Amino acid sequence: MDKLIVHGGATLHGSINISGSKNASLPILAATLLTGDPCIIRRVPDVSDTNYMIQILSALGAEVERSSGTVRITCGEISDVAPYDLVRRMRASICVMGPLLARKGRAVVSLPGGCVIGDRPVDLHLRGLEALGAKVEVEGGNILLTAKDGLRGAEIDLRGTHGPTVLGTDNVMMAATLADGITIIESAAAEPEVLDLANFLNSMGAKISGAGTRRIVIEGVKELHGVEHTVIPDRIEAGTFMAAAAIAGEGVRLNRVSREHLKAITSAIEESGHRVEFNEAGDSCVIHRGEQTRGVDLVTAPYPGYPTDMQAQMTALLATTPGISVIKDTIFPQRFMHCAELKRMGADIKVDAGTAVVRGVASLSAAPVMASDLRASAALLLAALKAKGSTEISRLYHIDRGYEHIDEKLLMLGANVERVKG
Ligand code: EPU
Repeated sequence: MDKLIVHGGATLHGSINISGSKNASLPILAATLLTGDPCIIRRVPDVSDTNYMIQILSALGAEVERSSGTVRITCGEISDVAPYDLVRRMRASICVMGPLLARKGRAVVSLPGGCVIGDRPVDLHLRGLEALGAKVEVEGGNILLTAKDGLRGAEIDLRGTHGPTVLGTDNVMMAATLADGITIIESAAAEPEVLDLANFLNSMGAKISGAGTRRIVIEGVKELHGVEHTVIPDRIEAGTFMAAAAIAGEGVRLNRVSREHLKAITSAIEESGHRVEFNEAGDSCVIHRGEQTRGVDLVTAPYPGYPTDMQAQMTALLATTPGISVIKDTIFPQRFMHCAELKRMGADIKVDAGTAVVRGVASLSAAPVMASDLRASAALLLAALKAKGSTEISRLYHIDRGYEHIDEKLLMLGANVERVKG
């Protein structure tokens, strides 16, 4: 298993390009199941989660070619059973469920297991697909969905106790594109990744309006066709590098970003005393590290609120920011595994009932730490950039799930990091 050794103290400078969004790519790749025509998708990040999704599609019968960020997929003859050993590796594989059901009238997908960031049920996905007319059975750890006479449009409210569901909205939206009649999703997720999927589906011939808002209307069509699409920039990767630049940078520039998608993250970074300067087009920014920094209070919320996927990285930044910061995760209240590891590096953090109280310390010191999930590992990496000494981060496969060539990008910015093959 690979490890990352981070020798703290280097100043980051220069510029990098942000990759295409992992969380937009995954449902878009799954959506290619809705047509037998070839689809070409550009800027798909080379991370293990997109590789798993491509493996699942291949196992379902798709023909896939991939070269430097461009994926060409043709889902000609496909099976309706997603193989367990691939599906179990990635929770996001649940988003093949909607398109398989719509295309084949039947889908067998294994029930996703537990997840370190908290209990992640799929009740809302199933409720939505049931409302479209699917029969749902759970048997032997598998979800079996059938719609012998096809799906039909319906009005569905997808709000759960923790707010809207991103992949649940994606699943129902994808299934509804081929349903008979009109579907209205209320309390839909409004994340930019949902909008990117809707744009992809609309170019395939779907009739979706309102994506990016809490109410999505889908008029079912008979069939969808092949399309070419470029995935939006990864706002979480951009946010992670913004935090890295605020911790250890001097005028770091990030290219291929979207100012619009980064509003909440930019506000949080600026509130803590740093400055983010965008170009006029809003697709490139420079992070100026502040001299007078201060703690902030953050509450994660569905888009356009502050993203849960940037909670751990901001905690790492605030660990060495003077003052007290209070960070509450309303979406995944158990997503604080990184705090125990940050404490081993000298951070002063108390976690209770979905809230972390961080007292900024002057500096952190290196320690062997273990990545527990994707964003937690990014937080450890950020903390290590300025910590005294060399931090060894094990279980690096977590970070490789969602950050494209992160060690290479950090090296380009002047960080002193080494990947040790193990
Ligand atoms: N929820 C339910 N029932 C459901 C589905 C979700 O109660 O049927 C709850 C969840 O437990 C959670 C909340 O609703 O408390 C929101 O979860 P959501 O369904 O939106 O999460 P997701 O769609 O499974 C996506 C991202 C996650 C990101 C969340 C929240 C992808 C592939 N994954 O997951 O990304 O944290 O939305 O924004 O898009 C990551 O990239 O590190 C990551 C975990």
